[in-house]
Amino acid sequence: MSTPDATKIPRHVAIIMDGNGRWAKQRSLPRLEGHRAGAESVRAIVRACGELGIGYLTLYAFSSENWRRPKAEVTALMALLEFYLQREVAELDKNNVRLAAIGRIHELPESAQRQLDKSIEALRKNTGLTLVLALSYGGRTEIVDAVRSIARDAKTGALDIADINEELISQRLYTRDIPDPDLLVRTSGELRVSNFLLWQISYAEIHVTDTLWPDFRKPQLLAALDDYSKRQRRFGRVAPLEGN
Ligand code: FPP
Repeated sequence: MSTPDATKIPRHVAIIMDGNGRWAKQRSLPRLEGHRAGAESVRAIVRACGELGIGYLTLYAFSSENWRRPKAEVTALMALLEFYLQREVAELDKNNVRLAAIGRIHELPESAQRQLDKSIEALRKNTGLTLVLALSYGGRTEIVDAVRSIARDAKTGALDIADINEELISQRLYTRDIPDPDLLVRTSGELRVSNFLLWQISYAEIHVTDTLWPDFRKPQLLAALDDYSKRQRRFGRVAPLEGN
């Protein structure tokens, strides 16, 4: 597949990485091997997004619901995250990638939080792709946290209720500095949003592929971008917009 037209490249791609377990099962491997192979897809997709000039890539790496998985799997996923951050920071830096995290980060094990802070700091000055990791993330929880922060300010009088609007709510979300996703990709064929970026995906185009996440590499990303480039984004209006 050829490189897509630069004017039709989405500014922000968000991905629900699903199917690691099924990938492992198909090969009679432990689930952890699926997650390990999934981490290699993360590496390949981050690199490809940088090369293609995509501004933001948000990956659903660990949901609020994922805490309910067996303890050994949760521990292994956290260790994999730390290992990935440690191993990749030099490569990310070389590729001018900036790092951010969204979610209830304080719920992560302390060593993972430390590694995350260290990596974010090391990549802070970069100006290329921003890689956003959604960790201990839930869309509803994010809205709860935003409502709490707004209510607190309304109570003290720092905020007038009449000033609550969409812009203000967006500014209270974890994604306050990040534009809304243009394209939401979900792997492994499931037709669900799974509590991911509920507010932010209001106008996102959705691409679902049957490919399992560990098999999702640059050709599958290009297919998603090709699909996106053929959509007419209207944002509720009638006339098609040029250049979208
Ligand atoms: C879904 O597969 C995937 C996850 C819950 C975690 C995603 C984690 C990674 C890709 C690996 C590490 C991440 C980083 C950022 C280095 P699943 O286990 O739900 O698959 P299944 O539905 O087939 O069981």
